[in-house]
Amino acid sequence: MTITRRTALQVGGIGAIGAAALTVPLTQAQASTPSTLATANFPKRFATPLPIPKELPRSTSPDAEASPYYEISELAAEADIVPGLKTTVLGYNGVFPGPTIVADKGEPIRVKVRNKLPLLHPTWGHALHTSTHLHGSASLPQYDGYASDLTAKDQSKTYRYPNSQPARTLWYHDHAVHNTAQNAYSGLAGQYHLHDDDERRLLPQGEFDVPLTVTDAMFSRNGKLSYDDKTQSGLWGDVILVNGKPWPVMKVKRRIYRFRVLNASISRSYRFSLSNGAPVTMVATDGGLMPVAQTVTSWRHAGAERYEVLIDFSKYAPGTRIELRNASNKNNIDFDFTGKVMAFDVTADPVDLSDPKATKLPTTLVPSTAMSLKPSDAVKTRRFRLKRDNNIWTIDGITWGDVIASEYQKVIADPDYDAVEIWEFENSSGGWYHPLHIHLVDFQILSRNGNPPFAWEKGPKDVVYVGEGETVRLIMRFEHQKGRYMVHCHNLPHEDHDMMAQFSVGYKAGDYDANDPIKADPAKYD
Ligand code: C2O
Ligand code: CU
Ligand code: CU
Repeated sequence: MTITRRTALQVGGIGAIGAAALTVPLTQAQASTPSTLATANFPKRFATPLPIPKELPRSTSPDAEASPYYEISELAAEADIVPGLKTTVLGYNGVFPGPTIVADKGEPIRVKVRNKLPLLHPTWGHALHTSTHLHGSASLPQYDGYASDLTAKDQSKTYRYPNSQPARTLWYHDHAVHNTAQNAYSGLAGQYHLHDDDERRLLPQGEFDVPLTVTDAMFSRNGKLSYDDKTQSGLWGDVILVNGKPWPVMKVKRRIYRFRVLNASISRSYRFSLSNGAPVTMVATDGGLMPVAQTVTSWRHAGAERYEVLIDFSKYAPGTRIELRNASNKNNIDFDFTGKVMAFDVTADPVDLSDPKATKLPTTLVPSTAMSLKPSDAVKTRRFRLKRDNNIWTIDGITWGDVIASEYQKVIADPDYDAVEIWEFENSSGGWYHPLHIHLVDFQILSRNGNPPFAWEKGPKDVVYVGEGETVRLIMRFEHQKGRYMVHCHNLPHEDHDMMAQFSVGYKAGDYDANDPIKADPAKYD
């Protein structure tokens, strides 16, 4: 066993309490497993059925406004995640993942979010004021979950979602300043499905349209979540959850399924593939349908990215089991079972193949604003470096602390409304990767280190994997809204400390901003 600083400290600690207190010898396995669950409580692989989050039902509008209205409460609750023990989660309506919100393009909705959480986090003690971000939506700044636009305990805020963009998989999650990582990790995350006619025509629907929210976690002996972000560099759990259950198994019929894969892990990135080596058909990215479907045998998937894949189970005999696996990527920390994610068991259940989408994989999909842009459309190129300065993560040396100190005025870019720009992000480090997220826009990845993007990235995106030693070039149009929006790393411990900045669309310093993200429509006591 290699003596690391940490094990040396453990040995020192044992010396202090006396060797008699040592009932089990230190082993490599103990040192390498962050969960301290007893063996009987450590979840088995493929023993739990995959749950599908319920759809959030509509509520009755409190006023005469006609747009669909929903209510959701942030609650602390006890969940069954590991066998034999309860785990405290913070969840939208007390469940993790939260209920799926389903919307249609062209129909704006309102969602009232109530903060009914304890005043302080039950395990880690920080104040539980929240901010709800709908990731993937071009919402107005005051409804975008701006980190410092907080909803305190017993307050609520009614968010407005325009649903003006093409169909896509979005997700809503907590974005509270400096505590996003612990809050999202505790369970404040859920999917949001925006539908439109193209997507209905091209992709499976209903029970064959399956959300898969993948996270990793570590548990203490009593079943509670534990948290170790390795000096704010990242959290790597040893238990993989899909839709809130460890290594679940799903029964599938012999036809094509669509999976909306969301990596909601706060730090871990995955390299997904099927255990039989079969390819999947990639049809949609963060911003919805790709222009052309891509066949891939594996894909690299960072936190907050969404990839929609089709898997054709028709060619497998009933009884076949296919695992979704994770081959991992550089600078993740892997454990005994983090190479496994979930399993699909092919059944002999009768299947209706009259819908062509059940049997035919699409090839040409639809174009989009982002994917139709050409470098010659850009009026400006901006360059940013992602780096660690004096132990603080920064974007070009800027932190959210600098934004706060400027009374939320400091911006790293001020594109004109409707302008097309190229933004370049450089990560010259070999020691970490950064999933860089730009609010408001969908972008196209033009290149990575001068090469074309990977096949699975050839669709509209709002998060880009900026790997070790990588420089990515992105092109985007600053459309939909004016105002101030965040840009940050989606490794959430990085975001919280303090790799987040903002840009302003359509305003120059000193202009009056009617959609001030904090002042325009603050949370209220119920
Ligand atoms: Cu999913 Cu600003 O975040
Ligand atoms: Cu976002
Ligand atoms: Cu980062």
